[in-house]
Amino acid sequence: MIKSPLEQKPDYLVCICMDVMRSQIEQAIQDGCHDFKSLSQALGVGTGCNSCVAEVQEILLETLENKNI
Ligand code: FES
Repeated sequence: MIKSPLEQKPDYLVCICMDVMRSQIEQAIQDGCHDFKSLSQALGVGTGCNSCVAEVQEILLETLENKNI
């Protein structure tokens, strides 16, 4: 599905340790990772320095709300 330009957010690196982009996290949420633990297992986020944990949780909440998953 093509999103309108207003809905699109610029992609950016969320987890520097594991080299994970925001779009990868959103995709994983769509694919069924609905909590931090499963995102961490799928992508490795939060398994290094932990500084991305709050950001990942924010993206998780935002994506779940927006997509009504
Ligand atoms: S930035 Fe994600 S674990 Fe370090």
